[in-house]
Amino acid sequence: MISFPFKITSKSCLGIDIGSSSIKAVELSGSGKKIKLENYVEASAPQEKPFLTREETETIPTLSPQDIALTLQIILGQSRIKTKKAIFTIPDYSSFFTWFDLPQMSEEEIAEAVKYEARQHIPFSLSEVTLDWQIIEGEKKEGKIKILLVAVPNEIVSQYSKIAALSQLELQSLEAEAFSLARSSCREKNKTIALVDIGARTTTCSIIDNGVLKRSYSFDISGEELTQAVSKALNLDFQKAEELKKNYGLFSKEKNLREILLPLLGLVLNEIKKVLENFSQSETKSIQKLVLGGGSALLPGLREYFEDDLKKEVEIADPFFNFSYPPLLEKTLKEIGPSYAIAVGAALRGLE
Ligand SMILES: Nc1ncnc2c1ncn2[C@@H]1O[C@H](COP(=O)(O)OP(=O)(O)OP(=O)(O)O)[C@@H](O)[C@H]1O
Ligand SMILES: [Mg+2]
Repeated sequence: MISFPFKITSKSCLGIDIGSSSIKAVELSGSGKKIKLENYVEASAPQEKPFLTREETETIPTLSPQDIALTLQIILGQSRIKTKKAIFTIPDYSSFFTWFDLPQMSEEEIAEAVKYEARQHIPFSLSEVTLDWQIIEGEKKEGKIKILLVAVPNEIVSQYSKIAALSQLELQSLEAEAFSLARSSCREKNKTIALVDIGARTTTCSIIDNGVLKRSYSFDISGEELTQAVSKALNLDFQKAEELKKNYGLFSKEKNLREILLPLLGLVLNEIKKVLENFSQSETKSIQKLVLGGGSALLPGLREYFEDDLKKEVEIADPFFNFSYPPLLEKTLKEIGPSYAIAVGAALRGLE
């Protein structure tokens, strides 16, 4: 959401998602309905040295800008990616957002009023954060303007600016992952959808209501914990356990894999249910559908398990849908879609 001084409408843009287990970069070009996938690339972090870690409930992750920049330079160079304009995503727990109404007023007056309102809504000092805001279209009712306000700690802005500079990229803006994921993977704008990003270390459940982000809640049960549970129960090293998990997941009849994974997935499901219930109670409407993103969305049998338990339609994110790309890539892009959904959404923002 945080835009840098001048807005450049470019023909191509990079979306870069720095996750704990891997960095994904997507290069898109075009505009409107004609988007071309130019390139995509991923670099995995060694299991013992993640790109980004978070101490419990901290809002600012620990990153190593030098290591990340070096990795980015290598993978972008190897893929011959020339585009320099980039949108980086930041973890949802690092971004604070809220909504409020303002009476009808001019654009200049809004800017002042937002600053004033921000003091009442944001649990930080305004000197510690960078603010960004936008008018939520379609919600201008009864002479009121609905504002979405986003605040990002200045420390995050400076860390990502450093990564971009060291990688020789032009940082066009930063955006919380939930906004990018919603842009790439929430196509039905008139529905109430729960977007669930299940990564390696963090899971985030966000609610998108008529195209507007209404809730975002992150917790720490995710893919790596699933692998660790398999590794411990079957006495396998991490890599072997990871392979078994990815290949068989909940469909495995052998080695009790399903029984090992279900208790942890039950915890994930409980956290998701809490977000859904909290939303339904306060907004008196219910979630119509779930969309799963993040690498762990690919766990065999997960979609079906969620669908059975929640009794709601569950879809796997397919962010490359409708882009132009070589037909040969069709199957691969379906498979990697959920992992790249955040990077795709960020790149799309750069083409808007
Ligand atoms: N086919 C698969 N089946 C099950 N899990 C998978 C599969 N493919 C990837 N994963 C899991 O997805 C996780 C990585 O997902 P992702 O790339 O979204 O994480 P990340 O963005 O690096 O992490 P985070 O967002 O938590 O910081 C790993 O735990 C990996 O084991
Ligand atoms: Mg992630």
